[in-house]
Amino acid sequence: MEVSKFQDLPTQILQAHQRINPYIRKTPLEYSPSLTSLGNGSDVFIKLESEQMTGSFKVRGAFNKILLIAGRGPKSRQKGLITASSGNHGLACLAACKKSGIPLKVYCQKNVDSGKRKTLEDRGATVVLYGEDCVDAELEARRVAKHTGVEYISPYNDYDIIAGQGTISVEILEQLPEVDVILVSVGGGGLIGGIARYAKQVKPTIKIVGCSPEKSKVMHESVKAKKLIFEESFDTLSDGTAGSVEDNSVTFELCRDYVDEWMLVTEEQIGKALVYMMQTHHKIVEGSAGVSLGAFMSNPEKFKGQKVVIVSCGSNISVSTLQDLLNKYL
Ligand SMILES: Cc1ncc(COP(=O)(O)O)c(C=O)c1O
Repeated sequence: MEVSKFQDLPTQILQAHQRINPYIRKTPLEYSPSLTSLGNGSDVFIKLESEQMTGSFKVRGAFNKILLIAGRGPKSRQKGLITASSGNHGLACLAACKKSGIPLKVYCQKNVDSGKRKTLEDRGATVVLYGEDCVDAELEARRVAKHTGVEYISPYNDYDIIAGQGTISVEILEQLPEVDVILVSVGGGGLIGGIARYAKQVKPTIKIVGCSPEKSKVMHESVKAKKLIFEESFDTLSDGTAGSVEDNSVTFELCRDYVDEWMLVTEEQIGKALVYMMQTHHKIVEGSAGVSLGAFMSNPEKFKGQKVVIVSCGSNISVSTLQDLLNKYL
């Protein structure tokens, strides 16, 4: 019987780990004395994907996918690629496309973070603004790709992308085999899907916690409803995780079957977490990273006595947003 891509994911993650190794950073797993002291007997570590190339974990999935495409030969490269992104996945695909000499068009929703859009354009991507929600941009990019015979790269609804993101789990389990719980911010679910699938395979007792902003929690509500649902999203500091999820996304089953618990955070908790990271770790992180950090900080007692890893997923934030947050919360 053929093994499905879903079942085979841990193997794909290990293959991705080898494939992308020359192009990405093995990010530090930094011990946090300050979060540990909040956590009443827990030991807290931060997986610094915010220090990854291009400023987020997204290069892992992008390099895995694009190296596979480039390996198919010059014909696949010449046609170029189309993707859709709230910014970070676009930046990551651009880095991988540049390495492979592939032109890239990125569809972004109209309210995409202006700093991320500018960086994409400055680095040579063609940016097309479309729709109000990231899923509008995704569906349009998919439609145009099909119409023009160009390959579309989903930011999360693709096993090669998920396998790339899952390589974070390989590193965490090497860096801290005793880890009990991993907190991860959730958008489309590619990041947590890959992390959870591999971690549970290697260490079934591990607990995976999915974290979302109260203002945009589509996957959280979908898992509750036992099917992917549409729910309106509102503006949030966590622009990377915001918005709807493609109807048929393969990430749904991963989130339903491999995520143990879900936590929601307010905008204030996200903002305070970003300021806290500057004060205590002298690190700049973006709103999406503030979601997993804020979830831990909102209820440290919950993790009493455990070895906790918080995935800090990105650092692409504008100086003006940081300035507002410092004015508000410092
Ligand atoms: C910084 C950051 N964190 C988290 C996410 C969420 O990842 P996923 O959509 O795979 O759940 C994104 C997605 O763009 C992101 O850019």
